[in-house]
Amino acid sequence: MNERDGATRIAILGAGLIGAAWAALFQHHGADVRVWDPVAEALGETPARMASPLAQLAEVAPDAGPRGTLTLCGNLSEAVSGAILIQENAPENIPLKHALFAQVEPLMGPDAVLASSTSALTWSELAPGLQDPARLITAHPFNPPHLVPLVEIYGTDPARIARAEAIYRAAGRMPVRLKKDATGHIANRLASALWREAVFMVQDGIADVEAVDAALVNGPGLRWSVLGAHMAYHLGGGTGGMAGYLAHLGPSQERRWAALGNPALTPDVQAALVEGVAREAAGRDIATLEAARDKALIAALIARRKAPHV
Ligand SMILES: NC(=O)c1ccc[n+]([C@@H]2O[C@H](COP(=O)([O-])OP(=O)(O)OC[C@H]3O[C@@H](n4cnc5c(N)ncnc54)[C@H](O)[C@@H]3O)[C@@H](O)[C@H]2O)c1
Repeated sequence: MNERDGATRIAILGAGLIGAAWAALFQHHGADVRVWDPVAEALGETPARMASPLAQLAEVAPDAGPRGTLTLCGNLSEAVSGAILIQENAPENIPLKHALFAQVEPLMGPDAVLASSTSALTWSELAPGLQDPARLITAHPFNPPHLVPLVEIYGTDPARIARAEAIYRAAGRMPVRLKKDATGHIANRLASALWREAVFMVQDGIADVEAVDAALVNGPGLRWSVLGAHMAYHLGGGTGGMAGYLAHLGPSQERRWAALGNPALTPDVQAALVEGVAREAAGRDIATLEAARDKALIAALIARRKAPHV
């Protein structure tokens, strides 16, 4: 991304948790980053909130080349004009995003891509905000976006998707395409399926919150960081691979699926979850927990450079 004469210009709209992390990521990788937020205080605090992500990126991606520039923009037009990627990180609210897109669209260059970071809204819900929906893609990062490489993409214009993917790759991200618009994209569907069962086990008294989390991070979580859910069963089948696994353990897998629960977030279940994570946190506040998460993620990302995933 280091084209010194005409560095890639990227607009970041909404500079909250996700926007500030995207801004740090793209600046670290040499882009000309333009940030806009309608809340003056949020805009003003952006450089301070980018400081820790920038320091972490220096550890995780030390070979990214010269840092790009950061411009805080007092108006939308200054941020969007000339940007080839406009990464939208406004609050998760359809009318708000539609209103923002209606302002952005006339300011966009003809080839520019408007990419929404939305977690749980679909492309189809957001596209009516534009005259030309082909300009829009959903490009969902996983928090924290400057560390976790995944960006899940859906759109209808293959050329725009390809251009956006090239920009994300140049910033060290791993774009993954959806073939079909889906609520929760891929990763949040997987995470939601898993959390549903994690909550059910607490509701049903199978295990405490701390035990469920300990089982996850010391077992499948470790394996999943190097091996996807499908590939794990290909290896679970031994020399027979996936076909062998399905023949041998497919019926047992179906029995396990049938035993899974469907919890409700009743007041009692919510109280059990809140009390459980409080025990697990053992007095550590959110900032301390985030710092511990980031330290472990950075160590894991550095380790993966030596042994990439299967
Ligand atoms: N928090 C996460 O874990 C996470 C992960 C992936 C994606 N996302 C998605 O990213 C988006 C932003 O989430 P967040 O967690 O950063 O929220 P946030 O509340 O931290 O930040 C939102 C920012 O948008 C600004 N804003 C308010 N009105 C706006 C407008 N009309 N136009 C532009 N900006 C406006 C706010 O001032 C604030 O700075 C959401 O769509 C969310 O679903 C969040």
